[in-house]
Amino acid sequence: MNKKGGVGKTTISLYLSQSLSEQGEKVLYVDTDPGSSASKVLGFAENELAKICTIADVLFPSTDVPLKDAIIERKDLPKRKDLRKRKDLPNDWGFDFIPSEKGLNGWEQSWDPGKEYKIQEKINQLNTQTNTKYDSVVFDSAPNFGYLSTATLIASNGVLAVTTPDWLSSEVLSGFLRTQSQVEARYKLNTKIVYVVINAFDSRTTHHHEVCKGIETIVSNLIEWNKENGIQQNIRIHDEIIPSRIRIADAMSCGVPLKEYPDKTGRDLCAIFSNLAEKIAQEIRKK
Ligand SMILES: Nc1ncnc2c1ncn2[C@@H]1O[C@H](COP(=O)(O)OP(=O)(O)OP(=O)(O)O)[C@@H](O)[C@H]1O
Ligand SMILES: [Mg+2]
Repeated sequence: MNKKGGVGKTTISLYLSQSLSEQGEKVLYVDTDPGSSASKVLGFAENELAKICTIADVLFPSTDVPLKDAIIERKDLPKRKDLRKRKDLPNDWGFDFIPSEKGLNGWEQSWDPGKEYKIQEKINQLNTQTNTKYDSVVFDSAPNFGYLSTATLIASNGVLAVTTPDWLSSEVLSGFLRTQSQVEARYKLNTKIVYVVINAFDSRTTHHHEVCKGIETIVSNLIEWNKENGIQQNIRIHDEIIPSRIRIADAMSCGVPLKEYPDKTGRDLCAIFSNLAEKIAQEIRKK
């Protein structure tokens, strides 16, 4: 999550989910962004999304579809092609998936009292309605903070606040973290793990090193502010910093997991996401 666009929320959530699956977890990935980037990366065109069952059909009271009916199983994800569209690439991300579509935008303004609890209720229903038990549900969020983000937070045990190491993103991150703390306090969400994940870091760029130090200050100031306001929160900067690598963007463009990327440099990047997934899974299971 983050209020800032283009910092890598979708990229990290997809590769994280793929790594969690590879580590043996049964994962459900839910696109909650009306922009539907993850749905598009996974091979669904905008006009198709308007025709199939999405998270919008689950959340709007007029449709109120059970979550289980919106799930697309991993084996049914569309086939993918390489960047030049010449050959088929493997498309097994390892997780089941719920797509989103632009109609979800209207949910923010819709009248439905208590809708902040809707995602949590639907997840709880899922556990009683199917024999499939998911170990993890990963949500991808839109770059803002409204009812959808609040509903996602209420349904979650942990938050990844993804940022890039530039000054403007760190300013927005600071505002996001404070809003997120307030929401936790207001809804009594019982201390989640909040990891700040720094993405697209370039070790040769002095500004990136400076901003990383600035992010440490933002986090320690927030910890102080939380204490002053009686908010308990377990917030940390994740020590796995994701480098800026063109292979990451290329693999996203083809919609294939990095482990399937046709060159070794791409596949080597998988280790970063595996480490991230392993540490996050350990922390969340501790709670
Ligand atoms: N570490 C990285 N190295 C290189 N490119 C990256 C990296 N992380 C993300 N990208 C690229 O940056 C672009 C934006 O990433 P992404 O869509 O994941 O951001 P986002 O925060 O989800 O954006 P939005 O707010 O629009 O949903 C994409 O083209 C993606 O492939
Ligand atoms: Mg996104």
